[in-house]
Amino acid sequence: MTSTNAIQVKGLKKNYNGFPAVHNLEFTVREGEIFSLLGPNGAGKSTTISMLSCLLPPSGGDALIAGHSITRASGSVKRTIGVVPQEIALYDDLSAHQNLVFWGRMYGLRGSRLSRRVDEVLDLTGLADRRHDRAGLYSGGMQRRLNIGIALLHEPRIVIFDEPTVGIDPQSRRRILDGVKEINARGVTVLYTTHYMEEAQELSHRIAIMDHGRLIAQGTHNELMRMVGGLHRITLTLSRKPAGLLALWRMLAGVHSVSEEGERVRLLVQDSTRVLPTLFESAAREETHITGMDIQEPDLEAVFLHLTGKALRD
Ligand SMILES: Nc1ncnc2c1ncn2[C@@H]1O[C@H](COP(=O)(O)OP(=O)(O)O)[C@@H](O)[C@H]1O
Ligand SMILES: [Mg+2]
Repeated sequence: MTSTNAIQVKGLKKNYNGFPAVHNLEFTVREGEIFSLLGPNGAGKSTTISMLSCLLPPSGGDALIAGHSITRASGSVKRTIGVVPQEIALYDDLSAHQNLVFWGRMYGLRGSRLSRRVDEVLDLTGLADRRHDRAGLYSGGMQRRLNIGIALLHEPRIVIFDEPTVGIDPQSRRRILDGVKEINARGVTVLYTTHYMEEAQELSHRIAIMDHGRLIAQGTHNELMRMVGGLHRITLTLSRKPAGLLALWRMLAGVHSVSEEGERVRLLVQDSTRVLPTLFESAAREETHITGMDIQEPDLEAVFLHLTGKALRD
């Protein structure tokens, strides 16, 4: 991996009627890496991707894609990148083959290069067998794969994926994640957005965590883990939630944070083995039953909880 920057985001901003959907974003994607933007729904991931792909003008700041400014050289940017948008864009009445030919022409591919790339993409996406069936009849996962294939047609050096695995079956998800790794192994730089921490964890060389339009942390997985030290995450389901009990838990040695989430209470603790007996004893004193419990080793969810006080998941 070289130290060249594939994407350099410099103070990027987007306001929607005064609402800051993206605020002063700063990050750098190095050539050859998989970089993930991880954040809950509404964090500003798609808005960021739309700006980087020159579909939405920024309210401020800029970004360089392979050295080309998104505000001053959108033509060069569009030729350099492939974008897989969050919303699937296909012609339902056309087959996979016809969709690829149509979009390939849109990208300026012609003749033998066009037919070679259409065949290669059909193989890569596993759609070769169904190439002549109407895209409208495909499963959600197959449509997603075709949508990804379209973004790869012109052999871009940088590919941006916006939540490509939302709402599809596990098998298609597996294929997509493996496909992302495969194109990266061939030298393509990947910017990937997701609200699934497992995906960010599995795929990324580096991860930026985003919330409410801001980057709240970035680094390698290990660097992010260090932010939460050795904290364990305990999720308890309680028969009731006396305020005094939660206040007491917040003051216990070894308890880093206590947050409420609907029925449940989440705690970040130094060492679950030492804290749990005290939690159970104090709950019993308050006549509160612990009806469910889950203990997690440190992960990206813990980092998010640590930084925002809320869970990444919906
Ligand atoms: N066209 C728009 N007009 C007004 N607000 C928008 C528009 N698009 C997105 N938003 C708002 O901007 C915020 C970020 O949205 P989005 O970028 O779609 O987040 P994500 O992709 O991380 O879920 C959200 O609060 C969303 O409601
Ligand atoms: Mg989105």
